[in-house]
Amino acid sequence: MFTINDLSAALIQRRRAMEIINATPDGKKLTHPAAHAPRIFADTATIDEIRPLKEAGIINGVTTNPTLLKKAGAKSWNEAKEILTAILKLMHPLPVSLELTKTEPDEMVKQAEELRALGPENSIIKVATGGYQALETPCDPFTGLKVLHKLWERDIKTNATLIFNSTQAFWAANAGATYVSPFMGRLADYMYKNDQPELPPGNSLYSIIDHKNAKGDQFVSNTEYVASGGARKDAGVRLVREIMAIFANYDIHSEVIAASVRNPVQLTEVLLAGADILTVPADVLGTVSEHPLSDKGMVSFDTDAKVFST
Ligand code: E4P
Repeated sequence: MFTINDLSAALIQRRRAMEIINATPDGKKLTHPAAHAPRIFADTATIDEIRPLKEAGIINGVTTNPTLLKKAGAKSWNEAKEILTAILKLMHPLPVSLELTKTEPDEMVKQAEELRALGPENSIIKVATGGYQALETPCDPFTGLKVLHKLWERDIKTNATLIFNSTQAFWAANAGATYVSPFMGRLADYMYKNDQPELPPGNSLYSIIDHKNAKGDQFVSNTEYVASGGARKDAGVRLVREIMAIFANYDIHSEVIAASVRNPVQLTEVLLAGADILTVPADVLGTVSEHPLSDKGMVSFDTDAKVFST
């Protein structure tokens, strides 16, 4: 079961060194109480979902991906770019992540320049950290890391995506990624549905039983977490916690985006884990201030307040 641990001193120190999210304007007496709050991004490419969240002042950025663009109605690369341009304009100067669709390093760098030109001040280029060997025409497994590094050399901000273990996050940061995105919800979904608790240690938090690496070896490794009976459904938040600890210990400033969030409970868990940023689908964001007891309380206050209207 997920337990509440104190944030380490290193993590708190790291947080204080990060950019202030809620600045207090000069001359204002009441300082903002959440200057170092984590940022909230909307995980959607649908402009009608983004606009009200932006106007309500509850998002500090947007993350998109090809699936979200398709869902938003894009049927061609040009249509995708039109949608992305509109989001970049609406969100300016707040960051918007735009994902590469090319998979060959030189073409990826070229496409990154093309996407950056859509919004030079707030575009963040999303690069898949791994997974290239799984494509129809398999690529060099280091493709993602190489491209992250090349973009860092060109002063292009990046978001390393499709991260499912803490070493991927470390390598991406080491390559120069500005942000790293552990997909905590997908990992938790996968573990919840597919992990096999009856297997002996070696059935790790992150191993996928039927998956083999390029040499044909099975990806089986162990972690203290599972060996000591850690709950598999909590794997997502555990991943975020591991990355936060590693980054704090080594003074790594790549910001950690808890991604693929499924529900408000996971939001609470990654806040407790100390994530820098939470990227959240609009429907989940829509529920964060809801609670049945809030509804009940509101109705009773509203009823009692009627006496004051006469
Ligand atoms: C992150 O940047 C991704 O867009 C996103 O969180 C993916 O989440 P999913 O698992 O809901 O597709």
